[in-house]
Amino acid sequence: MDIEKILEKEHLEKQDILMLLAAEGDNKKKLFAKSLQVKLKHLDNYVHLRGLIEYSNICTKSCLYCGVRSKNTKVERYTISDEEVLECAELAYKLGYGSVALQSGERFDPDFTRKITYLVKEIKKIGDGALGITLSLGEQSEDTYREWFEAGAHRYLLRIEASNEALYYKIHPHDERHDFKQRLSCIDILIKLGYQTGTGVMVGLPFQTLDDLADDLLFFRSKDIAMVGMGPFIPHPDTPLYQYADQIPSVKERMDLTLKMIAILRLMMPEINMVAATANQTIDPLGREKAIAVGANVIMPNLTPNEYREDYLIYPDKACVSDKPDQCYTCLDIRMQSINHKVLYNAWGDSVAFLKKHGQK
Ligand code: 5AD
Ligand code: FES
Repeated sequence: MDIEKILEKEHLEKQDILMLLAAEGDNKKKLFAKSLQVKLKHLDNYVHLRGLIEYSNICTKSCLYCGVRSKNTKVERYTISDEEVLECAELAYKLGYGSVALQSGERFDPDFTRKITYLVKEIKKIGDGALGITLSLGEQSEDTYREWFEAGAHRYLLRIEASNEALYYKIHPHDERHDFKQRLSCIDILIKLGYQTGTGVMVGLPFQTLDDLADDLLFFRSKDIAMVGMGPFIPHPDTPLYQYADQIPSVKERMDLTLKMIAILRLMMPEINMVAATANQTIDPLGREKAIAVGANVIMPNLTPNEYREDYLIYPDKACVSDKPDQCYTCLDIRMQSINHKVLYNAWGDSVAFLKKHGQK
C-alpha cells in the first residue's frame, strides 16, 4: 500500500505502523507533514510547559539503563529541602509555566510518601491552586496514589519503558522490585483513580525491534492513555546496559526513530499530550524543536536548583544542566517561535483527550 493511503486511514493497524516506522526519504517527510497537520487541527500550535523539579536521586531500584540506579555508587545522593521545592514552584508560578512536575528516584517508605503529600498540598496553595501538578515518582501502592491525588496532584507519569515483557526483563533486573506485571497494574490503578496518566518508552534500546516499537504504540492506544513521553535511549557508562552501546542504532537513527514514534502516535491519538523529552535535545541540539514539529506539544523546562542537576544524570550530557531557570524561559520562547509555535503561559494545559473522555470539554 502506498504511504498516502496509510496516512489517510482512520485506524492504523500494526502493518501500517510498521510501514511508517520504516519510512525514509519522501515518505518520511509525508509522515511528518501529516502528523504536524493533525496536531495543529486538534491542538493548535500551543506548547504547554511543566516546570521540572528533580526532587531526589535516592532510588531503591536498579534499572539497567539508569544513571541514578541504586547500585551506581559514583553518584552523590541528594534530596531537595522543602523550602527549595516550594521556591521552585513559586518560580514556576511567577514565570507563568502553569504546571510543575515533581520527579524523583523511587522510594515508598512513609517518610517519603507523607513528605510528597505535604509538598503537593503546599504547592497547591501557591496562587490559590494556580499550578497543575504532575507526579513522576514511580511505582507506589494504591493508597499512596490515592493520597497524592486527594492532596491535589492530577497527572502522573509512569513509563512502561518497554511494553514487551521479554524486553522489559532485558533492561531491568528480574526480581520483585522490578516486576512487569506490577508496573502494568500501577498504570491501571492510576487511570482508575482518575489521574491524567502518562506512560512511554525509550527508543533505540538494545534488543528492541521495530515490531516492539509498533506494539508499544498499540499498547498506548489500548490503554487510552492521556499523555505519552518517549525519548531516545542514551547509554550511560556507569550502567550495565552500556556494554551494548555499540549494538544500538546510531544517534541519528535513534533520533529519527523517536520522531517517527511521536509522529505515528499523533496520527493514532490526535488529542493526547505528548512531551518533547529532554533526551531528544541531549542527542540533537534541535531535538525538542524537531519533536514539537512532528507532533509533541509539551516541554518540561528544568527548575531544579543548579547545584543538584549534575547528580540527576539519568543519562550522560543531559541538556541544560548548567542553564539558569530564567535563561530557559527566554530560550524556550524563542525556540518555539522559530518553528511557528506558541508557549501557552498561565494554563494547566491538560490533555484534551482526557478532558473529552471525562466530559469536561
Ligand atoms: N536514556 C534515556 N532515557 C532514560 N531514562 C532513564 N535512563 C535513561 C537513559 N539511559 C528515562 C526512563 C525513565 C525516565 C525518568 O528517564 O524512561 O522513565
Ligand atoms: Fe534550558 Fe533552553 S531550555 S536554556
